[in-house]
Amino acid sequence: MKTKNLLNLGLVALAGMAYACGGGESSSESTSASPAAASPEPAKEISLEEKYKDDPIYIKGLEKIKGSDCQTCHMVERKIVGPAYADVADKYESTEENVETLAKKVIQGGVGVWGEVAMTPHPGVSEEDAKDMVRYILLLKK
Ligand code: HEC
Repeated sequence: MKTKNLLNLGLVALAGMAYACGGGESSSESTSASPAAASPEPAKEISLEEKYKDDPIYIKGLEKIKGSDCQTCHMVERKIVGPAYADVADKYESTEENVETLAKKVIQGGVGVWGEVAMTPHPGVSEEDAKDMVRYILLLKK
């Protein structure tokens, strides 16, 4: 009960702060009433899937990824067995060199960059397909 009240107080305080910050810019010569209460709506977060879904690199890479087993260990924005694609995209520039290195890693498998868990090798994936998959992954920057 007590904690809940404290929590409510905290929320009220936060709301108050947000309001104070938003309304601090009123010009001194303006005699009109309070600045229009521009409601501070939180910017709507769009998912990375939504953000890139029309990009040809996205479409091609995703199709190939869906044809393999990548999704048993990887998700776009959440780490499961392997790192989130968004985190991989965050780590590497999408250069031809990185695409090549990472494509090789997908085919050969490997461990030690993201932790102790290894990625299984994918000898059945061609280099070209692996590159398209990696280009898709590196596209997924926040
Ligand atoms: C058995 C689970 C598993 C599967 C299946 C899997 N991965 Fe991974 N992946 C991992 C793990 C674990 C890592 C982190 C390896 C490390 O720390 O070096 C990883 C890392 C990666 C990386 C980053 C490599 C680096 O050196 O930073 C890429 C890119 C990647 N995976 C792509 C893929 C693609 C594409 C597929 C499908 C063809 C795939 N993975 C399938 C588990 C998996």
